[in-house]
Amino acid sequence: MKISRRSFLKAATAIGASLAWVGPARGSRVHWHERRDLYPQGVASGDPDPHSVILWTRRPFDQGTRQLLTVEVAEDEAFRRVIAHAQAPVSSATDWTTRVLIGGLKPARTYWYRFTDTDGNGSRVGRTITAPLPNDPRTVNFAFVSCQDVNEGTLNAYRRMIYEDERAPAAQQLDFVLHLGDFIYEVVEYPEEVKTRYDRTINEVARIKDGLTAGKFHIPVNVDGYRAVYKGYLADPDLQDARARWPFVCIWDNHEFSWQGWQSIQKAGKSRPGQSIKVAANQAWWEYLPSRCKKVSGPSLESFDPPKVSNVAIEKWDENGLGDEPNNLTAIKSLIGYRSYRYGKHLDLIITDQHSYRSADSFSDPAAGAFGPEFTGMFPEDVAQVLDGGRAFNGGNPPAEVSFNGSHVPNSQRNAPPQTILGAEQKAWFKDQLRKSTATWKIWGNSEGALDSRADPQNLPPGLLKETWPKNTYATFPSGDYGSAYKERAEIYDLVRDSKITGFAIVSGDRHSFWAGYATSELPPGKFDPVGLSFVGASLSSAGTMEANEHNLPKTDPLRPLFLADRPDGEKPDWTHNMLLRHGVRSCLEYAKSFDLQRARALSNPDLAPHLEFVDLGGHGYAKVQLSGNEMRTEFVCIPRPIARSESPDGGPLRYRVLHTAALWKSGERPQLKTSVLEGDVGLAI
Ligand SMILES: [Fe+2]
Repeated sequence: MKISRRSFLKAATAIGASLAWVGPARGSRVHWHERRDLYPQGVASGDPDPHSVILWTRRPFDQGTRQLLTVEVAEDEAFRRVIAHAQAPVSSATDWTTRVLIGGLKPARTYWYRFTDTDGNGSRVGRTITAPLPNDPRTVNFAFVSCQDVNEGTLNAYRRMIYEDERAPAAQQLDFVLHLGDFIYEVVEYPEEVKTRYDRTINEVARIKDGLTAGKFHIPVNVDGYRAVYKGYLADPDLQDARARWPFVCIWDNHEFSWQGWQSIQKAGKSRPGQSIKVAANQAWWEYLPSRCKKVSGPSLESFDPPKVSNVAIEKWDENGLGDEPNNLTAIKSLIGYRSYRYGKHLDLIITDQHSYRSADSFSDPAAGAFGPEFTGMFPEDVAQVLDGGRAFNGGNPPAEVSFNGSHVPNSQRNAPPQTILGAEQKAWFKDQLRKSTATWKIWGNSEGALDSRADPQNLPPGLLKETWPKNTYATFPSGDYGSAYKERAEIYDLVRDSKITGFAIVSGDRHSFWAGYATSELPPGKFDPVGLSFVGASLSSAGTMEANEHNLPKTDPLRPLFLADRPDGEKPDWTHNMLLRHGVRSCLEYAKSFDLQRARALSNPDLAPHLEFVDLGGHGYAKVQLSGNEMRTEFVCIPRPIARSESPDGGPLRYRVLHTAALWKSGERPQLKTSVLEGDVGLAI
């Protein structure tokens, strides 16, 4: 016990949480009366392991700079068997938030917790669940979610998740929620300045003092600005209820810091050195999302203690594209997001950070970007692969120029490092985690999709456009994620194959759309050889590609049928963009003419997307994963466009529920997904 207490204190110090230890059960000694108004952001718990979990709340005070709350943890919802009773400090230094690491809990158990101030004013009651022991063979259930823009939408998906979970058999209830980023959007719109966007009415979220503006966006540049955004988001009742029901495991995507930012560079259109902004973003994330991420700024259990950095331009880059500038390195390492969790016998969850260490954008050269202007959004795949590979392309002999249909431009990446999203240090850690994993399933939780998004415009009928797409290459829709990080992705997948790792699957977010398929480095005419499964979960609320298509795609675009099929009766157009990615241009053109799904699918190009089983660029909602010793089940729960808060307890209607199952495969075998529609209409997603 002594040793584990000591190691526990070490753990609490690394993450910056107060420490509380479990004792014998007894009745509550606190005169708690619920005052939710005094805890306006609710309660939360995070990163459970078999013996501990972090509990969180915020209780702002008008007076003083530091106050003490009491936290209680009980084995029952009525707090008759309280097993931990400890102090939880809140202070103005952390915007009145608190984190308490509760140790000595039993594995795979549900607990209830609440906070009370010295006057007996209490938070709502939260519920949390510890992880099973590493040898525990029970089934693991979790949901993965991302992209919860409450400025432009509502969180009906959480309402449905809660409603279904409350009614599910115990063995199917969720153990935790994996949040894959865009917990906030730092680009805040004000309702009086922007009335609507696409189908959305802009909701009030926050006011950013002393921020920047980029177009209609107000952007924080200091910790108070980010704090204001978190407070605005956490005012959402559905998000509060979800955080009070399940522990969350979170990693940031881009918007927790900066829309187009990378490393410590802040970017919204224009790039700026943003070392102090990155530190502020990390501090606010640490304050509002309880996690085991290591803060490296100091030993305090109570505060973040932001390191001092200056905003200076990065002029030197190392061989992996990492900005070799002391303030940059300090800023991006002020909070370490990547980490892994063992959860019972069947899950190793390996979480990576996609923005803090990534190299400069490989695809930003406007000269190459001008290739094929008639081909809406499409880019030659072979050129993308050259740019991604940088100076390492073709075994270190990259071409001097890239070309498309006879136009040649210099290869802008000829001397650049190959694109990396992970960065060298994180990648080494990630590979090590993969190699060491002994759980049945190795789930890579990351914020960015890894499935190729491509089309076959080489099969367009002659005469539709002035230009003809070259016969020997596919088109890609550049995504900036692992879907076009060809070299790095192959490095990971090669490791999985060479180390004979089975049960490898990716869950990701960011794309605002549902995707299910296979992890493969190459597609035809290369070798399609999947080493695992790959999923992308839709946005909880943020607008997606289909909504943008419906509003932005000109009626006169000759390629419009590849994205939207306009019905002769003037009804809402069908989403052929899904069909384009899965079956190709011939299917889309047939469908937009006849609306005959069978005839359209009969023209499917089998070489285009053997890696895809399902894609819906118009979906919203969440995904649920169930892992057992022999199977991975991934369910997409899709709701209609969440433009208004549902008044019904189930969060409103379902669009569809789709289940993707895969039996555990042996090393050398090819994973196989079976997709079945359980409810509703999936449109052209299959
Ligand atoms: Fe997003």
